[in-house]
Amino acid sequence: MPQKLIAQGAEAKLFLEDGNVLKQRFSKSYRIKEIDEKLRGSRTRREAKVLQKLEAIDFSAPKLISNDEKESLVIEKINGKLVKDILEKSDYKKLCGEIGKKVAILHNSSIIHGDLTTSNMILSKEIYFIDFGLSFFSEKAEDRAVDLHLLKEGLESKHYRIWEGCFKCALDAYKKEANNSSETLKRLEAVEKRGRYRARKGS
Ligand SMILES: Nc1ncnc2c1ncn2[C@@H]1O[C@H](COP(=O)(O)OP(=O)(O)O)[C@@H](O)[C@H]1O
Ligand SMILES: [Mg+2]
Repeated sequence: MPQKLIAQGAEAKLFLEDGNVLKQRFSKSYRIKEIDEKLRGSRTRREAKVLQKLEAIDFSAPKLISNDEKESLVIEKINGKLVKDILEKSDYKKLCGEIGKKVAILHNSSIIHGDLTTSNMILSKEIYFIDFGLSFFSEKAEDRAVDLHLLKEGLESKHYRIWEGCFKCALDAYKKEANNSSETLKRLEAVEKRGRYRARKGS
């Protein structure tokens, strides 16, 4: 059966294959070949490893079906809509509370998502997180704080009408659920101060 392309991002093409999703990282001709292969391999393996861990803790993410350790993964298809496309029309406070709680669950398992935007979340019966290619394991407050900062930046740029309410709800829920949340939030303030300083200097 021919594969049907369902999405194409900056790094990967996603096909429908036997009811599952095949995520194939393509080569980038501007990268040196060896580096390109290493990068695709490491992101593919990393995504596979994190998805397996998430299945073990029963987190709402696609299940890993197979992995070639080089450039492609087969994962469970999640039926639903991207949170990016529905957030504004929905009860966004409730959804953002769910997002905050789920980020806390990831962090409590030492998983940093690395790309927490609403394009990487699908609303099905509940919110599923996807796109773990930049994820990693860490117990550092700095890494958790940067993850939250990226969530904030993504909300600010894609949902600029409602982002403040969104981030507040996400953070309130995060605080309730996360271990070490006061340390992480203190660090978040430091991360944001650095950001403002850089913005003033124009870099
Ligand atoms: N498991 C999945 N089920 C359904 N759709 C998916 C799934 N994984 C990815 N997609 C779709 O493909 C798009 C790109 O996938 P993603 O993993 O975010 O790759 P990229 O690194 O290219 O952003 C997503 O925004 C989503 O629309
Ligand atoms: Mg993505």
